[in-house]
Amino acid sequence: MKLSVLKALYTDVLIPLYSRSEAENIFYIVLQNLEKKSKTDVIVGAETLISETYRDILVELKKGVPVQYLTQEAPFYNLDLFVDERVLIPRPETEQLVHLVLEENKGTTKKVLDIGTGSGCIALALKNAWPEAQVSGCDVSEEALAVANKNKETLSLDVDFFKCNILNDEIEDFDIIISNPPYIAISEKEEMHKNVVNNEPHLALFVEDSDPLIFYKKIIQLASKQKATCYFETSEYYRNVLDSWLQEQDLSFEWKLDFQGKDRILKVAW
Ligand SMILES: C[S@@+](CC[C@H](N)C(=O)[O-])C[C@H]1O[C@@H](n2cnc3c(N)ncnc32)[C@H](O)[C@@H]1O
Repeated sequence: MKLSVLKALYTDVLIPLYSRSEAENIFYIVLQNLEKKSKTDVIVGAETLISETYRDILVELKKGVPVQYLTQEAPFYNLDLFVDERVLIPRPETEQLVHLVLEENKGTTKKVLDIGTGSGCIALALKNAWPEAQVSGCDVSEEALAVANKNKETLSLDVDFFKCNILNDEIEDFDIIISNPPYIAISEKEEMHKNVVNNEPHLALFVEDSDPLIFYKKIIQLASKQKATCYFETSEYYRNVLDSWLQEQDLSFEWKLDFQGKDRILKVAW
């Protein structure tokens, strides 16, 4: 079958779930994953002998399963990560958080902790860029830690991943803390894309409506004891409430814009 015909099939089937450009992009991700082929092969009229495999994948995609869980690959800040249903799929916004942290702390040799590490994406990207730093990542989910450790082995990056419930446990002796914690209030679930809600781990996404800032508050309290500089990913909707809370605590903080011009990155220093 011609790849151009398959591409049209993917686009038609996926349009109810995704925009046209996202649907096309998903086809190209599958094409690259299955046959190491690209857009050029489609344009020059190449054919595939494994159209059944493409169709099987399309059946899962139509159910809303994210393509990264099917290919079990997610690119993140120059790394090719393994991902599956045990971890959140790393997002481009998080790459921006990593970029900012790297720019502000070039070549550091300090002790760095990624809280809520998931696939290990942040910790591994930082260690890749800072070979001399002592980088750790923690998560409450043993399943997530298994994925992070698998990535660590494959990428040969010396990151210490450990289990920790940051809401209960103490952490000690870190100079820089980075976190993309769960921050979506459960009440927002209805408004979210069902592909995310139905497939990605809820432990990674949601916090109780009663205190959606719980992770930020707890991590900042822990960081204050060791004067660790904190960098967070958050939602732009929390800008005002976080501002008020940080001012009440008399803390020194700074907002950084993401590539869409939204206040999504928060830095707290001492
Ligand atoms: C939004 S995900 C971020 C994953 C990854 N760092 C990323 O940016 O793609 C939040 C992570 O926090 C972890 N988590 C949830 N509750 C936690 C807790 N109490 N202590 C430590 N980690 C927690 C989840 O298992 C999940 O991996």
